[in-house]
Amino acid sequence: MPSLDDLVRGMQVVAVVCNQWGDTGKGKFSDYFAMQWADVIARGTGGNNAGHTTVINGKKRIFHLIPAGIVYDKDGKVNVLGNGMVIDLKVLCSELDELDSEGMTYNNLMVSEDAQVILPFQIDRDKKKNQPLKNKGIGSTGRGIGPCYSDKTSRKGIFIRDLYDEDTLRAKLETLTEELYPGFEVNMEEVMADLKPFADRIKPFVRDTIAEMHRFYREGKKILLEGAQGLVLSIEFGTVPYATSSDCSLNGTASGVGLSAKLVDLPLGIVKFPYKTRVGNGPFPSEYGGLASEEYCAAGLEHDMFYEVKEYLGMDLNLSEIRAFQKAKDTLALAVHERKVVEYIKANREKVVELINSDDPFIRGVGIRIAGAEYGATTKRPRRTGMTDLVALKRAMLHNGPNIVLTKPDVFRGAKEFELVDGYELDGRDIEFTRDCSKLRRVQVRTRRFAGFDDDLASLTDYRDAPSGIKEAIDYIEEFTGGRVRIMSTGAEQSETIIIK
Ligand code: IMP
Repeated sequence: MPSLDDLVRGMQVVAVVCNQWGDTGKGKFSDYFAMQWADVIARGTGGNNAGHTTVINGKKRIFHLIPAGIVYDKDGKVNVLGNGMVIDLKVLCSELDELDSEGMTYNNLMVSEDAQVILPFQIDRDKKKNQPLKNKGIGSTGRGIGPCYSDKTSRKGIFIRDLYDEDTLRAKLETLTEELYPGFEVNMEEVMADLKPFADRIKPFVRDTIAEMHRFYREGKKILLEGAQGLVLSIEFGTVPYATSSDCSLNGTASGVGLSAKLVDLPLGIVKFPYKTRVGNGPFPSEYGGLASEEYCAAGLEHDMFYEVKEYLGMDLNLSEIRAFQKAKDTLALAVHERKVVEYIKANREKVVELINSDDPFIRGVGIRIAGAEYGATTKRPRRTGMTDLVALKRAMLHNGPNIVLTKPDVFRGAKEFELVDGYELDGRDIEFTRDCSKLRRVQVRTRRFAGFDDDLASLTDYRDAPSGIKEAIDYIEEFTGGRVRIMSTGAEQSETIIIK
């Protein structure tokens, strides 16, 4: 079978982007390339709305801002937060604290002087206007991302570099709040005083990263672009208004670090398979359980992992105690419970498989959510689950290129069969993917069935030994989309990765 060396021979820039609605496992692949290949790891879009989960030697880490490659800082690898990002300084500093507490270095971290700063009143506005799911808000992550990007486009936002010139910062903050936040009570001196210690802390890392990225490129450094969110959430190509506020396509990711997408030798589009997920409201044609699932997941933490494991797997859990820990943000107590729940799910795999094989699509969706631990890395909300949708994938590949990485097929171990969406029908007519949400909501999907499998995919080392249903599905994905499935991930660990071609 081919190796990673075969795949990337002679290449200088690789991009890991997502072809769905995010949460496909970019973190694992960003880490995979950072460890085995890249000299520079750069992120270009979004902020702490993302949550990149990596598992290294059994240790799970979730970064919201810093690229996953930071764990290789000691090897001289450079990690860049690019010009296209929106940065909450407090969150950035708390990630640095976490690295400190683990004795990890971040000497080669670079933060773009051109990135935007997320401000407290932007977070307030996001929480009030965009976050609430129950009244049909878009269900943003409430991190201030939307307001920060919209203030940037209004040319009133605060750049990282503004933090180091007190007069400019004060004047810009005054204009921003007077013109765009009337009615918000903003104590300017307090905002500035709160920003100061964080700004001082990150100062050694602030650079003109656009110039640095071009220098790295000229010097022949191997560069990994780490995408955030997913194509269908892109402000340019996604299901707006149910989308994020940055362009998280390949183009947006490249321009968010100051490079042209033309320089990318290998764009890899990550695709969860044979299911996918969506967080927040918005159309999702292949959703298991349709509207009922959308509304159930909109209840957020009420239907989180703890609730589902108690309700659907019968685990004896004291939910009111857990809710109290959540309210008190007692992360230590929650982590203990989370570990117990994860063990319980593992030990009760048969019950989970029963859910996945249910005739009721809503229940099937719950089973997949539990099996795939599909709860927000950032928000812990239950993610909506549905079938991998080749119609939407084909559209995403117009933007992100023909190369596919499949992740999480292992979640379906024990499933009698699985389905992929290969057609949309609207009012009795076949249609292609559309960004028109009112149409997308009414689409009926056509599916193709494939045989399930009982094999433990994690022990698979050669693609030729993969279950026949998976191989047939992969052939079909290639035929339908015209793309190439390059890699299949069979588990969370880096070693659980198969290069196909
Ligand atoms: P925002 O990015 O916080 O403004 O949220 C806008 C929409 O994008 C909401 O539906 C979010 O759930 C979704 N979203 C933002 N970041 C992510 C992500 O990392 N994974 C999945 N969905 C996301």
